Amino acid sequence: MNFNVITLFPKMFEPILGESIIKKARQSGLVDIEITDLRKFAEDKHHTVDDTPYGGGTGMLLKVDVMDRALKEATSNRQQAAGSNEAKQNLPPVPCTLHPIVILLSPQGEKFTSQMAKELAQEENLILICGHYEGFDERIREHLVDKQVSIGDYVLTGGELPAMIMIDAISRFVTGVLPAGAPDEDSHSIEKDGKPALEYPQYTKPAEYNGWKVPDVLISGDHAKIEQWKKANLKSASN
Ligand code: ADE
Repeated sequence: MNFNVITLFPKMFEPILGESIIKKARQSGLVDIEITDLRKFAEDKHHTVDDTPYGGGTGMLLKVDVMDRALKEATSNRQQAAGSNEAKQNLPPVPCTLHPIVILLSPQGEKFTSQMAKELAQEENLILICGHYEGFDERIREHLVDKQVSIGDYVLTGGELPAMIMIDAISRFVTGVLPAGAPDEDSHSIEKDGKPALEYPQYTKPAEYNGWKVPDVLISGDHAKIEQWKKANLKSASN
């Protein structure tokens, strides 16, 4: 599964996506994350990526020509990377999605859900575009993007945190990313309505802390009763 993120703030990503489970997924080749610096695609000496709106109005808009050049490079890098992997391993070239799914992070987009994460994890290549400042030239939405996605009903200062949230949630659905046999290996399975699977409360040692006790049944050793208790206490997972 390959992600390419187009952003004005490339340094924001490594501290988050270079740790923990996503770090391991990248090291084992299950997930590849490339960051494309939008500013590199500005053609003037001031590296201008935005400009004032035609017809007036406040704020600046990200420019369509700069975004188009960045997208073309993000797409062709992916194709070259796919080709060189196969060449290295003496394998026939695997057809690479000519047109990866291009997603614009925007508070006006379709709401991101577990179900969407699961569906997107079936794709080979995703390009995530992070907006910043006031907005985008509308032609970016009209001509360059397949889908607009919002992570929630609030406006953030940019699409970088939403992009990282999407990468994290989608990667959990890539086979092999969650460690085999880990207690939550199947906690990424989802219910029909797109909600995370139900889980029962879990406890570890000590059996009592500050007067807060682990339910007696769990330390009773009675497996039938324990199973009954787990079923009776299923609820929506909080993480
Ligand atoms: N950019 C700013 N706010 C956002 C949100 N809620 N979701 C996705 N991208 C955004």
